[in-house]
Amino acid sequence: MKKNYEKQIKELREKMTLEEKIGQLQQCGPSLVGAFEVSFEELLNMMFDGRISQEEFERLMGTAEQDFHEEDLRAGRIGSYNGIGDAGTANRLQKIAVEETRLGIPLLFGYDVIHGFRTVTPIPLAESCAWEPGLWEKTARIAAKEATAAGVHMTFAPMVDVAKDARWGRVSEGAGEDVLLNSVYGVSKVKGFQGDDLSKEDAMAACLKHFAAYGAGEAGRDYNRVDMSMQRLWEEYLPPYKACIDAGVRAIMPAFNDINGIPCTVNSWLLRDILRGKWGFDGLVVSDSNAIAECVNHGIAEDKRDASRQAILAGMDMDMSSNSYIECLKELVENGEVEESVLDEAVDDVLRIKFELGLFDRPYRTNEEREQQTMLKEEYRAIALEAAEKSIVLLKNEENLLPLKSDAKVGIFGALAADKGQMTGAWAIGANPDDCVSIVEALKARGISYQYSTDGSNLLEIASESDILVAVIGERKEESGEAASRADITLHSEDLALVRNLQATSKPVVAVLLNGRPLAIPELDQMASAIIEAWHLGIEAGNAILNVLYGDVNPSGKLTTTFPATVGQCPMYYAHMNTGRPGGKSKFTSKYLDAPVDPLYPFGYGLSYTTYAYEDLKFEKDEDGVHVIVTVRNTGERAGEEIVQCYTQMPYAKRVRPVRELKSFTKIALEPGEAKQVELKITNDNLEYYDWEMNRIPYEGKLKVYVGGNVQDTIVEELALS
Ligand code: GLC
Repeated sequence: MKKNYEKQIKELREKMTLEEKIGQLQQCGPSLVGAFEVSFEELLNMMFDGRISQEEFERLMGTAEQDFHEEDLRAGRIGSYNGIGDAGTANRLQKIAVEETRLGIPLLFGYDVIHGFRTVTPIPLAESCAWEPGLWEKTARIAAKEATAAGVHMTFAPMVDVAKDARWGRVSEGAGEDVLLNSVYGVSKVKGFQGDDLSKEDAMAACLKHFAAYGAGEAGRDYNRVDMSMQRLWEEYLPPYKACIDAGVRAIMPAFNDINGIPCTVNSWLLRDILRGKWGFDGLVVSDSNAIAECVNHGIAEDKRDASRQAILAGMDMDMSSNSYIECLKELVENGEVEESVLDEAVDDVLRIKFELGLFDRPYRTNEEREQQTMLKEEYRAIALEAAEKSIVLLKNEENLLPLKSDAKVGIFGALAADKGQMTGAWAIGANPDDCVSIVEALKARGISYQYSTDGSNLLEIASESDILVAVIGERKEESGEAASRADITLHSEDLALVRNLQATSKPVVAVLLNGRPLAIPELDQMASAIIEAWHLGIEAGNAILNVLYGDVNPSGKLTTTFPATVGQCPMYYAHMNTGRPGGKSKFTSKYLDAPVDPLYPFGYGLSYTTYAYEDLKFEKDEDGVHVIVTVRNTGERAGEEIVQCYTQMPYAKRVRPVRELKSFTKIALEPGEAKQVELKITNDNLEYYDWEMNRIPYEGKLKVYVGGNVQDTIVEELALS
C-alpha cells in the first residue's frame, strides 16, 4: 500500500523560497573541468570534427577533474544528480544537501542502470529473447541491490520503446519490435527495480523511458521525427508505457523526438492530458539530457527561456543537465508568465519521490562497506550466466553440427573473441571489463584444445590442425545504443572476408555473432554451417556461449526482432499489413525487385538441440476472453525449453489489421518424448482496436488463432467472435 505524503509535502513546500523551489527542479551531473576553456562536450565535438587532434584531446583530458558544483548545491540550487555511481561521493554530496542547505532537503541520485550495475547482464534486446518475465525481474532485482549499494536512488530504465527498424542503434536497449513483449518486459523490470517498498534500502525508483514512441524515428535515425496516426500510436507504441504506469513506475522520461510536430519535452497533450489526466500518473517527470534547451533546435521555442516556459507548463518537472530552469524560471514566475502554482506541482512531484524513497528519514541509504560487500556476489554472477544462456538464439545448425564434442580441435578467429570490454554492450557505464569472461578465457578454463587468431593470420595452418572453425564476428558495443544508427547493417567487410577464407578450407564453420541489433547476414547464412546469435551478453558471455556451443545448455532463445535479408527492407517487422496485393511471386504485388519478400529470420524464431511438435489446438471462451489450449511435444532426443507463441489475425475489420499480432506466450520445459497441454489466454481488451474516429471497439467476426514456435511455423484454427 503506497503511503500518502501529501501533508508533509505541502508543509515543506510552503516553507520554500522561489529559488529553493527552482533548485529542486535542477538535475545536473559532475562536469569535467581542466586546462580547457570550453565544456567537456564542446571539447569532445572539437576532437570529433578535427579542430583538435586526438593527442591534444587526450593531453587536455589528462588535466581534467570532476566538478560536482558544491557551491550551487550549498546555495540550494541543485535537487538531483545524474551519474554519481559510488557511495562515497553520493554520501559526501548528500551531507552538504542535508547539513549545509537551509531546509536540508535530501538529494535524489539518478543513474543509467540499464542491464546491470557492476554485474552486467545481457543487453535488453538479448535478454528479451528469453521471453521469461521472472528472469527479467530477477536481473533487475540484482541490479537494484548493487546500484543502491553504490548510492543510486533511481535508474533511467526500463526503456520500452517499441523498435521496428534495425538501423536504429537503441533497438539494443529495449525488448524489440512487439508491443506485448515490451509491455511485459517493462512491467517485470519495474517490479525488479522497485521491489515491493520503495523505502527499502535495496529498492530504487524506475524511470520509464522514452515517452513516447522514440523507437519510431523516421528511417531509423536517432532523435528523428516521429509522425504517425493516433490509431497507430495508441495500438502499437503507447501500451508498454501504460502497462508500466499501471505497475507503479514512479518516474518517467519524455523522449527527445517530436510526435507529429510537438517535441515530447513540451507536449502538454502527452504529459498532462494523457500521462496525468487519462492515466493518473503522479510520479516524477524528468527530461532527457539537455532536451529542454534542444527545443530551440527543434524549432518549437525561440530560446531557452521560451523552452523553459513551454516545458514547465507542459508538465516537465525536472530539467536534466540543460540549466534552462535554473537560469530562466525565476524571471518567468516573477513576471507572471508562469504561475508559481505550476512550479509547486513540479516541486511536489520531486518531494514526493524523495519521501517515497525514505530519503528524509534516511538520506544516507548506503555506505562504502555495504557497497564493497554487495558488488559481484557469486549468486549475482550465476544469475548473469543464466540470463546470458537464455538470451542466446540458435539461428542455424546444419546437420546438427552443434553441440561440439569436447575433444573437437577448435580454430577460433576474430578480435571480439578475446575482447573482454566488448562483452558488456551499450550502456554498461558501471562495468569493469576485468569482470567479464571472454570466449577465449572460457575455452582456456575448460581445457579445450584450441588455437586462436585475432585477425585471421595463420588461418590455413590453424584450419589444417582443427576439426571446427569458429568465427566470432559482429559489432563493437559502440555500434549500438544511443547515437549509433547504421545505414548499412551487413557484417563488416573484414568479417565477411574472414568467413569466406574459413569456408574455403572446407572445414565446417560456426559463426558466433556478437551484436546489438538485427544484422542483414544472408551471405553468412549461406557460408556458415551453424550460427549462434550471442548479442552482447555481459560479464558471463564467454561461459554462456561455450555452455551452448558444447551442449551443457540447450539453447531456447527466440528473436524479438525480425532479421531482414537486406537493410533495404527496413523497417521490417512481422505485424505488417496484408495490403491489397500481398508480396508474392507475381509481379504486381507488394515487394522489391531486388530483395526477397520475407525476412532472413522471422520474429519469434530460434532453434534448439531438440525438436517440438504442436497439436490439438482448441479454444474455450468465457466472459473475459478466449482460452487457447494446445499440446506441445518434444520430438527429439534432448530435454529443452520451448517458447510457445500465440498470434491472432482479424481477417476483416473496421480498419485493416496486421497479418499477425502476438497475444500471449509462455515457456515450457519438456523431456525427450514428453508432451504437455498448454493454456494461453487472450483477454477481450486484447482483441479491441481503434476505428477511424478513434473509438476503441471490440473485434467481431472470424478470428484466426496461430500457435507455434515462431510467427511463421504455426498451426491455426478459427473461431467466431460475435
Ligand atoms: C541520454 C539518453 C537517456 C539517458 C540519459 C541520462 O541522452 O537518451 O536514455 O537515460 O541521457 O544519461
